[in-house]
Amino acid sequence: MAKARLQFICQNCGAVSPRWQGRCESCGEWNTLVEENTSGGIGGGPGKVAARGRVVELQALAGESKSPPRIASGIAELDRVTGGGFVRGSALLLGGDPGIGKSTLLLQASAALAARGERVVYISGEEAVAQVRLRAERMGVSAAPVALAAETSVEDILATLEAGKPPALVILDSVQTLWTSTVESAPGTVTQVRASAQAMIRYAKQSGATIILVGHVTKDGQIAGPRVVEHMVDAVLYFEGEGGHHFRILRAVKNRFGATDEIGVFEMTGGGLSQVPNPSELFLGERNAASPGAAVFAGMEGTRPVLVEIQALVAPSPLGTPRRAVVGWDGGRLAMVLAVLESHCGVKLGPHDVYLAVAGGLRINEPAADLAVAAALVSSLSGIALPADCVYFGEVSLSGAVRPVVHAAQRLKEAQKLGFAKAVLPVQSIDKEQGETPGLVGIDQLAGLVASIAASGPPVARELMREAVDKRPAPRRTGTTRSD
Ligand code: TYD
Ligand code: MG
Repeated sequence: MAKARLQFICQNCGAVSPRWQGRCESCGEWNTLVEENTSGGIGGGPGKVAARGRVVELQALAGESKSPPRIASGIAELDRVTGGGFVRGSALLLGGDPGIGKSTLLLQASAALAARGERVVYISGEEAVAQVRLRAERMGVSAAPVALAAETSVEDILATLEAGKPPALVILDSVQTLWTSTVESAPGTVTQVRASAQAMIRYAKQSGATIILVGHVTKDGQIAGPRVVEHMVDAVLYFEGEGGHHFRILRAVKNRFGATDEIGVFEMTGGGLSQVPNPSELFLGERNAASPGAAVFAGMEGTRPVLVEIQALVAPSPLGTPRRAVVGWDGGRLAMVLAVLESHCGVKLGPHDVYLAVAGGLRINEPAADLAVAAALVSSLSGIALPADCVYFGEVSLSGAVRPVVHAAQRLKEAQKLGFAKAVLPVQSIDKEQGETPGLVGIDQLAGLVASIAASGPPVARELMREAVDKRPAPRRTGTTRSD
């Protein structure tokens, strides 16, 4: 017989090590390795004699399913992110910072579903029943027939769920508080969380109930400890928001049954979360159009166009190595735009500190924001405010060329709806029928945008920028090394 194997598992990243070490070799965290006995619930390992299995009935790919595959929560912004409602028999993980509103969102979804006659069970491992009741009262959903319990033992939860009518939705708030007696480790450890989540996911597949596991996020943005759970569930949603803002953004980072590029936008109010069906109005709400350094970006979040303000501040730096700070956008992408402005457009940003922020706490991943970022940077450096009724979008390549982007018509439509009369966009994104539309400015080189901003300013600023534009190295401007 083989000996029982001893393993040390990092509580931060889940890496397995055969011996104890002060520092995890995989993620570099100190003092996170904990001895865990893996002979229990999961795996088994080579030492275990396999029991003889039973014959499983194999099925055809095509076939009828008994009930509708999805249950819509009735909260449109949530259903948009899940891809049209919760899939029966699936498991979701909802991650987010403490206090961001995960419990609030799930209580609202539970109440909405329960009010429509579905059986919903809300298991709170963190709050007492009285606390959840108090919150429900505040949100005005106390009347909904949600079945509530404060419990952390997986065995007790499973026995309870199996006793009554099969539920449509089970909320487990949070996965870190769950524990099962099949493994010996303490609650919150990787082995416990993995075994508990596995048991609940198995229940979801067997019963057809949707299980939502709530997971906490650590300072560096990972769902604390049990990153392994991310691989086990069908969908991973993140609930995020900037401190100081009331907006909350729900985003799918993994979804086996839908797209991952949709976002749901909510606002935290005194009576719970309210939906924001038109986020552009919200993100542009606090705009100060007359100040330099702000450009409105016409972006896309999944299938929905979203207008958002990009703010830049360029100031002479007292430091040897100027600072570059970014909120809501990729720092590497900013460095690229700065380099293109410097080498192809003659805009000298080298000795300046550069700060860039996306207003409203939104995070943008689209390369189409390059042009709006460049416009905001040039505007801040020159002190020339951009036209208040103009939107910008387009991808900038390393050669300084402006590349076309997808969904140009949808972006323009949203801008028009919100009263923007002008747009600066890649010339190749302008359709033939739009060609005649007044207010559309198609550009193919970033230098063209810099020149037009410079031309719109007062003489002093114009002089400053003219110098920059005239200093463009001539051979590069003609673009013999175009990358597209
Ligand atoms: P909560 O859902 O408990 O966060 P999480 O479960 O992600 O830790 O949200 C708590 C925060 O939301 C708390 O700071 C108070 C605020 N809140 C409101 O502003 N209005 C409300 O109606 C509710 C219920 C909470
Ligand atoms: Mg909570």
